[in-house]
Amino acid sequence: MRSPVLAVVAASLFAVGGCGIVSGDEADLQVYTGRHYDLEQAFTMFTDETGITVEFLSGSDAELRERITAEGENTPGDIYMTVDAGNLWKAAEDGLLATLDSAKLTDAVPEGLRDPDQRWYGLAMRARTVMYNPDEVSPSEFADEHTYADLADPKWQGRLCMRESTSPYTQSLVAAMIDEHGKERATEIVQGWVDNNVEIFSNDVQILENIDAGTCDVGITNHYYLARLLADNPDLSVTPFWANQDGRGTHVNISGAGVITNSDNKKQARQLIEWLATDGQNAFVDGNHEYPVNPDVEPEPIIADFGEFDFEPINAQAYGELNSTAIEVMNEVGYE
Ligand SMILES: [Fe+2]
Repeated sequence: MRSPVLAVVAASLFAVGGCGIVSGDEADLQVYTGRHYDLEQAFTMFTDETGITVEFLSGSDAELRERITAEGENTPGDIYMTVDAGNLWKAAEDGLLATLDSAKLTDAVPEGLRDPDQRWYGLAMRARTVMYNPDEVSPSEFADEHTYADLADPKWQGRLCMRESTSPYTQSLVAAMIDEHGKERATEIVQGWVDNNVEIFSNDVQILENIDAGTCDVGITNHYYLARLLADNPDLSVTPFWANQDGRGTHVNISGAGVITNSDNKKQARQLIEWLATDGQNAFVDGNHEYPVNPDVEPEPIIADFGEFDFEPINAQAYGELNSTAIEVMNEVGYE
């Protein structure tokens, strides 16, 4: 099953590397990653501590899963890492991930943030919540129970900025709403956003910049993009509102990883995943302002300032299985 996307993935193999991370096929561990962040700090630290070298192959999740399948027994990949529980679920369903029975990991990663069958473990958590400009909006304007759904109310007409339908972030949020409300009600909600003339952006930073500038009053983004902007400009006029606090809790997702079934270096692969959840947990999550999954680790100060919140239980199976329904719902109502 050769396809043009494989060439794109292969090309990006050489685009990564640098800074203590080995290029080519010299490294001890090959991590296939759908994360699009600067990963190097934590992994360089891992190499310094253990002597195990790590190389990344980055691509979209569908590309990476397709590649692992195509490579079969000959895959050089040892670890599959990604940013969405639905993607981890799909990889496990496709038989791409080996069982990783680790007392260290079951201690470090709470149930609910890992696969009950031990094929993947959450390593960092991100919240996708409502962001607003405090000069334009009072937090009392938001519903506390169905916050995302209430953005379909006509009072938000012309005030909303959101992410495009092709983003896995939007897809999992809509999948979670289908899981909560059913397809029919979820369709009404997304229709309501469209009727409110929601402005669509192709990245979260643009949404936050437009809220700051007052072009939009309200948006939905991942929390760490706000943390990054605040690190540069603490006076930014954007405040997070923790959605659904009187309901199911704020929508969250995980970055996580599993050992590839055909990895020929499972021992060191296990060592890396265990390290990321324990000794390396701070370095890994702080590098991208994500929330630790390990309850013994504190979040970094900027996101700690966002305050505590209840989050919706992650339903990896639902995000995975309802992904195509979520896309269908958005297409049906013309959400771009
Ligand atoms: Fe992101």
